[in-house]
Amino acid sequence: MLHRLCCLEMVVPDVAATAAFYRDFGLLEVAPGQLASTAGGVQLVLASGPARAVRRLGVGVDDESDLDRIAQNLQIMGASCARGDGALETRDPALDIALRISIAPRIAARPATPNARGPRGALMPEEGEQPRPRKLGHVVLGSPDPAATCRLLCEGLGFRVSDRLPEVNATFLRCSSDHHDVLVQPAPRAFMHHTAWELGGVDEVGRAAMRMLERDPASQVWGLGRHLVGSNYFWYLRDPAGNFAEYSSDVDTILDDAAWQPGDFHGRGQLYAWGPPPPLEFLLPSDIYPRS
Ligand SMILES: [Fe+2]
Repeated sequence: MLHRLCCLEMVVPDVAATAAFYRDFGLLEVAPGQLASTAGGVQLVLASGPARAVRRLGVGVDDESDLDRIAQNLQIMGASCARGDGALETRDPALDIALRISIAPRIAARPATPNARGPRGALMPEEGEQPRPRKLGHVVLGSPDPAATCRLLCEGLGFRVSDRLPEVNATFLRCSSDHHDVLVQPAPRAFMHHTAWELGGVDEVGRAAMRMLERDPASQVWGLGRHLVGSNYFWYLRDPAGNFAEYSSDVDTILDDAAWQPGDFHGRGQLYAWGPPPPLEFLLPSDIYPRS
């Protein structure tokens, strides 16, 4: 079955500046433009292009039988499917991105949150130590045809619906035991709203974001706060290409798929349980929604 996000490939105008941002953010650059989390391996690949865009999103499965089933589903839907060695690739025409499904090692469940003093002292980090994301937590994609994107992800690939925001036609989808790995929302044209990267708790979220803001106060977008849907703590920063990058921790987990009933969330709780009000730029990024 599906069990994880793998690698996200992005096009950005300035690869060097964007790679430097994600190095400071806590990812490890193992080769130029290839950035790794501690548990997920290389999960962000940067390539040069005129404007920010997502080129490919990877999802991990256990074995060939998963690929057989997905290939069959894609064929039934009339979607494209290119089968390779241990992987297949399809395209979402609405998002204009490739979706690569590959056999990949599972990421171990996150360790239990230690108490505040922790084994090395979560509140007293070593001098100069930047918290390092364990993995790519989720990706939020704006689609000009969100129904078609959700259909491809669910009926074609096997994502499950976790929750919905009917008033804004957004859908939380999962391919792991996390509450969401992908959020699909409507947009006038395809774009990526943000990536989220998992840290070990709210203290790491706070420490990591404060270090980023010391380097560049202008990278602040929104935080600290806590989402209601998914329950994760969040702090959003902006990379040099205009993508938002979220530090996230403590997202809900769904261990029993059969028992989970997707919910519809309305009103203020759609976005957050507590925190400062979100800035307009977070809700409507100005390169996608130009100000008149
Ligand atoms: Fe998020």
